[in-house]
Amino acid sequence: MIEHMADHRIAVLNGPNLSRLGRREPAIYGHRTLDDINRALEARFSDVGFDFYQTEYEGGLIERLFDCEDGGRCSGVVLNAGALTHYSIALRDAIAAVSMPVVEVHLSNVHAREPFRRESVLAPVCLGVISGFGEDSYRLAVEAILQKGG
Ligand code: DQA
Repeated sequence: MIEHMADHRIAVLNGPNLSRLGRREPAIYGHRTLDDINRALEARFSDVGFDFYQTEYEGGLIERLFDCEDGGRCSGVVLNAGALTHYSIALRDAIAAVSMPVVEVHLSNVHAREPFRRESVLAPVCLGVISGFGEDSYRLAVEAILQKGG
């Protein structure tokens, strides 16, 4: 039997507090859970093999990023690093250390919120940033990776 290989493999990595989507500050982040968001991506992009991962830990994101790179089959990474976006030099260095395109995403428009959210230490080493479109931010990031030939 020939095993079906997805045309593309994309990792969707979520950092601290994104496990609480659905009940976490719904006025800002909406009512959909992370699982709802992930299932919607699978339904929309049936030719993409997704690797979904969420962790509350900075090191967990870094390890997963390296696992994706070392696995050799990952076309790109959609990354919502949560608050780590604004201060994690370690995560920034990890993104700079891999060759896969990484798209930074945020559900909320980080530029329309508190001043400390306006800075992203990750953005300079990412392919681009998508912020403020709710769960659609993830879909747009997948499309950006596919467009880049992912
Ligand atoms: C977030 C924005 C971050 O500032 C915040 O710390 C989060 C979620 C977003 O998706 O809008 O945890 O990344």
